[in-house]
Amino acid sequence: IAGGCRVLQNHVLTHIEVDGCNDSQSAAEGAVLGLFTYDDLKTKKKTRVTTQLHGSGCVSGWEKGVLYGEGQNLARYLMEAPANHVTPSVFADTITNRLAPYADHCVCVCVCRSQEWIEEQQMGAFLSVSKGSEEPPVFLELHYNGCPDNAQCPLLLVGKGITFDSGGISLKPPSGMDAMRADMGGAATVCSAIVTAAALNLPINIIGLAPLCENMPSGKANKPGDVVTAKNGKTIQVDNTDAEGRLILADALCYAHSFNPRAIVNAATLTGAMDVALGSAATGVFTNSDWLWEQLHKASVVTGDRVWRMPLFQHYTRQVTDCQLADLNNVGKYSRSGGACTAAAFLREFVTAPIGRTWTSQGDDQ
Ligand code: BES
Ligand code: MN
Ligand code: ZN
Repeated sequence: IAGGCRVLQNHVLTHIEVDGCNDSQSAAEGAVLGLFTYDDLKTKKKTRVTTQLHGSGCVSGWEKGVLYGEGQNLARYLMEAPANHVTPSVFADTITNRLAPYADHCVCVCVCRSQEWIEEQQMGAFLSVSKGSEEPPVFLELHYNGCPDNAQCPLLLVGKGITFDSGGISLKPPSGMDAMRADMGGAATVCSAIVTAAALNLPINIIGLAPLCENMPSGKANKPGDVVTAKNGKTIQVDNTDAEGRLILADALCYAHSFNPRAIVNAATLTGAMDVALGSAATGVFTNSDWLWEQLHKASVVTGDRVWRMPLFQHYTRQVTDCQLADLNNVGKYSRSGGACTAAAFLREFVTAPIGRTWTSQGDDQ
C-alpha cells in the first residue's frame, strides 16, 4: 500500500512492504511521493510511515525510485514551507546542506552569491525587485560535474526564486496570497533536480542558477513606471511590479549564457495566465529548439508529467517592445490577454538562439 497509513483493528501501520509489481522503480517513487506530508510546524505529527520493497523485486530499481521521489519531495517541502521560514538565505543553506555529501568528492560546488556580487554583475532588474524587501537577496549557483570529460558543455537550469510574492506596490488581493510562498517553485525544482542528479551520480555536467529574493511593497520598492537596466544593458519599464519573475530571470538568463551552455532550461511560476490556459493538465513550454522540445515531450510521456508547447510569435514580442520609456515593458500592451505568451516573449529578449541555429517556426512567425 503506497497511499499512506491505515488503521487496522486499532493498530496503526507504521511500516509498509510494497509489492514492486514488476516495476520497483515506479512503486518506490509512488510510495515516497504518496507519503509526503508537511507537518514540521504542527505539535501533533502524523504517524511516520516507512516503506520497503516486498519480496524479490528489483532492489536497484527501488533505490532509484526512492531518490526520484525524495528529490521531488524536497521541492515540495521548500514550496510548502512558510515564507518566514524559507527566506532566500534559508533556501540557499538548505540546498548547500543537501549537496554537501557530494561536495566532498568535488563533483559538486554550491556558491551563494551575495548582494555585493549581484551589484558587481550589474543585475539591475534582479536588484530592483529585491530592494523592496528587508531580506537580502541571494544568487545561488550550483555546479554539478558528473561528466569525466570536463569539456562537455553544461546543461543550464535556471529557476525563479521568489520566496514570497506580495505583488509589491502593485499589491495582490489578500485572498490566496499565502500561496505565493511557493513562488520559488522553479528554483526548488532545478535545485532538487541537481541534488538528485548528484545522488544518482549522473554522467553529465549541470549548472543550476536561482535568483532568490522577496517581492515586497516598501519605501524602497519598484514603483509602476520605474525604468531599470538589466545585465545586458537593456532597459525595462516596470509598469506592474507584480510581473517580477521575468525581471529576476532576465538577469539570470544573461548570466547563464556566459557558461557556453548546451541548452538552457528555465522553470518558473511566471504567470497566473498559464494556469488559465492549461490548468493542471500540463506544464506550458516555450522553446526555440525543436530538439529540446522533443526530448522534453518524450520524457513527459514516460513520467506522466504532461507538457504542452506554446507559441513565441513576434505578435507577442511587439506587445512588450512597444514601450513608452524603455526598450521593453515588463507587461504586455493588452495586459491580461495572452499573458503567458507575452511573459515568454519578454524572456526571449534575454536569450540567443543556439550557435549555428535559428529560431524555429514557433518563433519566426509574425
Ligand atoms: N507569481 C505570479 C504568478 C502566479 C500566479 C503563479 C498565481 C502561480 C499562481 C507572478 O509573479 C505574477 O504575479 N504574475 C502576474 C503577471 C501580470 C502582472 C502581468 C499575473 O499572473 O497576474
Ligand atoms: Mn508577481
Ligand atoms: Zn511571482
